[in-house]
Amino acid sequence: KRIVVLYGGMADEHPISCISAASVLRAIDTQRYEVIPVGITREGQWIVDGEDPKGWQLGAAELPSVEITKESRPVLLDPALGGDGFFAGEHEDLKNPANGYGTSFVSMSGIDPEKHNVVCSLGHVDAVFPVLHGPFGEDGTVQGLFEMMKVPYVGCGVLASSVCMDKHFTKILLQAAGIDVAPWVTLDTREFDSDSAFERNALDILSQVEQSGLQYPLFIKPSRAGSSFGVTKVERSDGEDVEDKLAAAVFEASRHDWKVLIEEGIDGREIECAVLRDVPSEQTRTSFPGEVVLDSRSHGDDDAFYDFDSKYMDESASHVEVPASLPQEVLDHVRKVAAKSFDAVDGMGLSRVDTFVKADGSIMVNEINTMPGFTSISMYPKAWEATGIPYSQLITMLIDGVLG
Ligand code: DAL
Ligand code: MG
Repeated sequence: KRIVVLYGGMADEHPISCISAASVLRAIDTQRYEVIPVGITREGQWIVDGEDPKGWQLGAAELPSVEITKESRPVLLDPALGGDGFFAGEHEDLKNPANGYGTSFVSMSGIDPEKHNVVCSLGHVDAVFPVLHGPFGEDGTVQGLFEMMKVPYVGCGVLASSVCMDKHFTKILLQAAGIDVAPWVTLDTREFDSDSAFERNALDILSQVEQSGLQYPLFIKPSRAGSSFGVTKVERSDGEDVEDKLAAAVFEASRHDWKVLIEEGIDGREIECAVLRDVPSEQTRTSFPGEVVLDSRSHGDDDAFYDFDSKYMDESASHVEVPASLPQEVLDHVRKVAAKSFDAVDGMGLSRVDTFVKADGSIMVNEINTMPGFTSISMYPKAWEATGIPYSQLITMLIDGVLG
């Protein structure tokens, strides 16, 4: 079976996807599958034979990126080809809609026709594993493309992907299903077009927070982003103008998404649960819940949270503990809530459900990641490993589940 592993992408999380894909490509069963890695550049060009993603390591000083090189061959997708999905042709053909190849999903700009005059022929593809994080990968857009092309793909469908990419709508759907979430307000920052506009609106932002009754500390987040991009923790500390700190945090988040969430920081442990539903007709399964344990040496200050650097730049900053050290009944409860959350959004394939467990044992769902970090030392695979499914087998289950 021919499997495309898709990685990179147009989101801020591009390098994380490259690292996840590197792990997948090292572990995937190549006796079983013919694997074709396809990279998406930050600009949205799809290529094969660019950088070799297998070499990338977690914590690399320089984050990896899919680049167009002399060797890269652009890929064209054409829905007219139905199940065959991935299409080949001469570069010049692509420029002429009259030849029937007009519906190009791949921008050819930036590719020098002298050097790259042949579009890669992938022929028939049996399934795609989109190891993509963030917008244009984890948000239903690429999933919609595969649906139209009738190519099976690993993971959540269009609705679950787009709902879970958007923290505002995730909360609304989970609440409707009777699942607790952290209190929040959502801001539309589209009219705040400059840093100074945020400063001018600082008091207005503060008054929204006060009216909502949110308790400090607050977390300011872009609604549609991941890997802690654009997230700021704001404390109410005496002697400082909290409205300025809020406005600066909202401005920072708005650089990633115009829709910004102000969320009450929950006093609880962040417990994550891996969910798997590899075969549509089978029940949703959950792993032992795990916890990311921060190394206190590198996180002495109060403002520390599990931010981008501790997630990806410093492997020794944290480690994963599965199962988390919690009473059995709390662990069981987390698993139930995780499965219920996954089912509430029509989840399929995989997701990592991130929760807060408070001291009294009550549980709130923070977010659902439909394509969670997927390196061999990431929580999702680690949690399954601890529950009895090794990394390579997990990849096989996810792919075989969509092959039918
Ligand atoms: N968004 C990152 C990849 C995660 O949730 O693991
Ligand atoms: Mg998360």
